[in-house]
Amino acid sequence: VVLSPDQLKQREEELEAKLKSLGVTEHRSVRANRPKDEPWVIHWRDVFPLFREAGELMGLTERVSRRHVGGYQLVMPGEIVPAHHHSANAMRFVVYGDGTAYTVTNGEQMFMEPRDLLVQPTLGWHHHGNEGSDIVAWRDYLDVHIMDAFQPEIFEDWEDGDIPPITQAEGTYARTGLFRAPNARGPQPKAVPIIYKWGEAVAALGALAKTGEDDPYDGILLEYRNPITGGATVPTMSARLQLLRPGQQTRTHRHSSLVRHCVVAGTGVTTVDVTDPVELRWAENDAFAIPTWRWHSHRNTSTTEPAIIFSVTDQPAYEALGFYREETR
Ligand SMILES: [Fe+2]
Ligand SMILES: [Fe+2]
Repeated sequence: VVLSPDQLKQREEELEAKLKSLGVTEHRSVRANRPKDEPWVIHWRDVFPLFREAGELMGLTERVSRRHVGGYQLVMPGEIVPAHHHSANAMRFVVYGDGTAYTVTNGEQMFMEPRDLLVQPTLGWHHHGNEGSDIVAWRDYLDVHIMDAFQPEIFEDWEDGDIPPITQAEGTYARTGLFRAPNARGPQPKAVPIIYKWGEAVAALGALAKTGEDDPYDGILLEYRNPITGGATVPTMSARLQLLRPGQQTRTHRHSSLVRHCVVAGTGVTTVDVTDPVELRWAENDAFAIPTWRWHSHRNTSTTEPAIIFSVTDQPAYEALGFYREETR
């Protein structure tokens, strides 16, 4: 279908209005993921039906690499998103797809299955492709708000053709795992491109739920550790996975870090603030965020099923600079 400029404009305006009614005020750019001052929640059930329409429409008018709806990045079937790199570290948590889409970072191709976490450290050249017949969607977690403070950010498109060559298939394990070349000493980067497969993450969470101790503010809590440093996932951000037991209500605390969440399973409510509390109700694939220094607690509203939440916090950046504070009630 070829639309006239007027028809295109009209359909874009209709889409914008629909998104706005769902609380999505900025959707085209990765900057849609930047922190806001107020708590927010985006419901998957609201935005998912708009993905196909948004995907087709934006593909006609925009650089496809900037296609976000409600902070979910979309890649349409058959599409290859041109490569670029930037100072900001990026993490991608896959929400929807059949494993046929991929990201290439510094020549390494990683296929993206639902709930996988892909880490792309600063200035990694990256592009995406979708070889399947369905849309793929993930949530992007960048430290652009930190980059904004440390300007200027380097941002460049790959110029030698649209995309750099793929030089290796998934090789994360050999580069970062228990088996590595013995001469891989010398100065190491602070983070390398890596994919954390969901099966391993959820198995570790399950094991910890059996034997570990609950964090009073987050339930069972895991960090995706950086295999190079043993510390935070990337120097500025820590990716985490948490499990709230059936009916669990956490205690209330606040901290100077920002935490952005993506619900993997279950239903619950996160309460922000103590006077005039805001209740963020969430379900599978929803995204929500708690701004810095606001009291909050989580509750699993199911009495039979656990709730699992993925999150990214910028706590490591605060800690490195001595700004991290936490208070409990
Ligand atoms: Fe990017
Ligand atoms: Fe917290």
